[in-house]
Amino acid sequence: MDVYRKFAYLYASGDYPQYSKHIAEYLPGLFKQLDFQPKTILDVACGEGTFAIEMAKKGHEVTGIDQSPEMLTIARKKARKENVKLDLHQMDMRQISFKKTFDLATSWFDSLNYILEISDLETTFKGIGQVLTDNGLFIFDMNTIYWLVTLAQRYACIVERETSDIFQVHRHAYDFEHRIASFHITGFVKDKDRWLRRIDETHKERGYTIEEIRRCLKVAGFTELSYWSNLEEQVPFTPESKRVYFVVKK
Ligand SMILES: C[S@@+](CC[C@H](N)C(=O)[O-])C[C@H]1O[C@@H](n2cnc3c(N)ncnc32)[C@H](O)[C@@H]1O
Repeated sequence: MDVYRKFAYLYASGDYPQYSKHIAEYLPGLFKQLDFQPKTILDVACGEGTFAIEMAKKGHEVTGIDQSPEMLTIARKKARKENVKLDLHQMDMRQISFKKTFDLATSWFDSLNYILEISDLETTFKGIGQVLTDNGLFIFDMNTIYWLVTLAQRYACIVERETSDIFQVHRHAYDFEHRIASFHITGFVKDKDRWLRRIDETHKERGYTIEEIRRCLKVAGFTELSYWSNLEEQVPFTPESKRVYFVVKK
């Protein structure tokens, strides 16, 4: 896979990690509501580690997997700086394999939309189910089809970031036949007053219907507890929700 390579720098230096940092702030409230006290967490597609680090700071034992060596290098550096212990592995989420089990699995910020085949989504859910303890929870988000289409049509080309040293443009497209959104990212990074570095990556995200996600979860052996369009306020899902959050149990 050729994503989150050079873009890892733009991701980690931007606002993106704030998303999962915020989730780590309110997740303990959800645990309390569910009377759930996870000791061990597997963060699937952990990226540059922000969520894993925040949860480790709260006393959980956190393992993170990601396909990108660059994101994992940043995660290791950040964990060292924050003085927390993380167990990080370069691993494709479609091929999860651990000898140990986890009380909680998570996956944030559209990471699961990077899976472009429904059979792979099913395999990923099965893999996660296999490394969860009985009654363990899997909590995750995904972009909806509605949002991927809207993003591509309403914001076909956007200046994502313009600072004194980074200029980043995103061009979006949507393939209706395969329900795949493409994000063509181009970034320029200034180095010693010259725009010497150019970063180009194309990211692809697939949208799945709620029924498809539910079916894959069921086949993987999960029991659905809830799904919402906003995890923090537990807002009910509607056809115009941008994101869906699932809470499911093994
Ligand atoms: C939008 S980032 C989210 C990172 C992190 N979860 C967060 O909330 O900041 C998506 C992440 O998914 C990872 N990813 C995409 N496809 C993957 C795969 N097949 N296996 C493992 N990681 C994958 C990318 O490398 C990237 O780090």
